[in-house]
Amino acid sequence: MDLAEITRMYDFTGRSIVITGGAGILGGEIACALVGCGAKVAILDRDPALADRLMQRFETSIGEAIVVYADVLNRESLEKAEQAVIGAFGRIDGLINSAGGNKPEATTGDRTFFDIPQEALRFVFDLNIMGTILATQVFARRMAETGDGVILNFSSMNAFRPLTRIVAYSAAKAAVSNFTQWLAVHMAQQYSPRIRVNAVAPGFFLTDQNRYLLTDRESGELTARGKAILSHTPMSRFGTPEDLLGTVLWLLSPASAFVSGIVVPVDGGFQAFSGV
Ligand SMILES: NC(=O)c1ccc[n+]([C@@H]2O[C@H](COP(=O)([O-])OP(=O)(O)OC[C@H]3O[C@@H](n4cnc5c(N)ncnc54)[C@H](OP(=O)(O)O)[C@@H]3O)[C@@H](O)[C@H]2O)c1
Repeated sequence: MDLAEITRMYDFTGRSIVITGGAGILGGEIACALVGCGAKVAILDRDPALADRLMQRFETSIGEAIVVYADVLNRESLEKAEQAVIGAFGRIDGLINSAGGNKPEATTGDRTFFDIPQEALRFVFDLNIMGTILATQVFARRMAETGDGVILNFSSMNAFRPLTRIVAYSAAKAAVSNFTQWLAVHMAQQYSPRIRVNAVAPGFFLTDQNRYLLTDRESGELTARGKAILSHTPMSRFGTPEDLLGTVLWLLSPASAFVSGIVVPVDGGFQAFSGV
């Protein structure tokens, strides 16, 4: 094996990849990288206006991208999206389940654990775990038929050890890690050992879904929680979306052909640090 062969593994020319929540901060960055590596990328999201803004970043790229409306909690809309992707690209080689998130009403702090509304808990469970499972049911069926494919889920640091306050999000992401292992075994044993399933567990990336926990709304200064996170991150910084790209491209590419069922932390060392 030489450098040219290794470089070719990261050439996604002609490969069709679907990203749920693809207009989000992390999903959008991944979409840009994949298009830059030659892929045909379907950006699935609820708000086409967000995705359209993202499309402007692709104008000079070598791959292709389309925007497709999909709500990961609505199977019918996912099935329509699947038809649209097949109509545009003719195939589906990869699925990235990036739609996910938390909401303030499902955390303790402003309210006690005992007062968190059931709807808020259900919203967070549904979005993170049901949204991952439903999208996989719809998009991985074709992988099962062709015997080839790669699936990448979004777990989180709180799946390894829960973080304070975010009760539902921690449990839901632990379920995503568990589902990743379950599906890796199921796909390999029932359909094809060439279908791989893995997850990334991002550490702390300052995005719209956690800004309210990590920075003060008015001053923009770090909250006590934001400071605690940085002091517990050996690299002493939040992640940037580009920090995920190496791991994501590796897990989607043939460079990880013998890797399935793992959850890779991309966290500046957070997970390794005992605090002492
Ligand atoms: N940021 C972090 O530090 C961090 C850490 C660990 C894990 N993660 C995970 O990484 C993934 C991406 O997060 P991000 O930080 O990039 O957040 P983000 O910018 O909020 O991206 C999430 C995207 O998912 C979309 N979405 C929400 N509900 C949806 C639904 N029902 N159907 C389809 N799309 C939906 C959102 O659209 P709307 O704007 O319309 O809601 C948004 O575009 C998530 O799974 C998150 O839990 C993030």
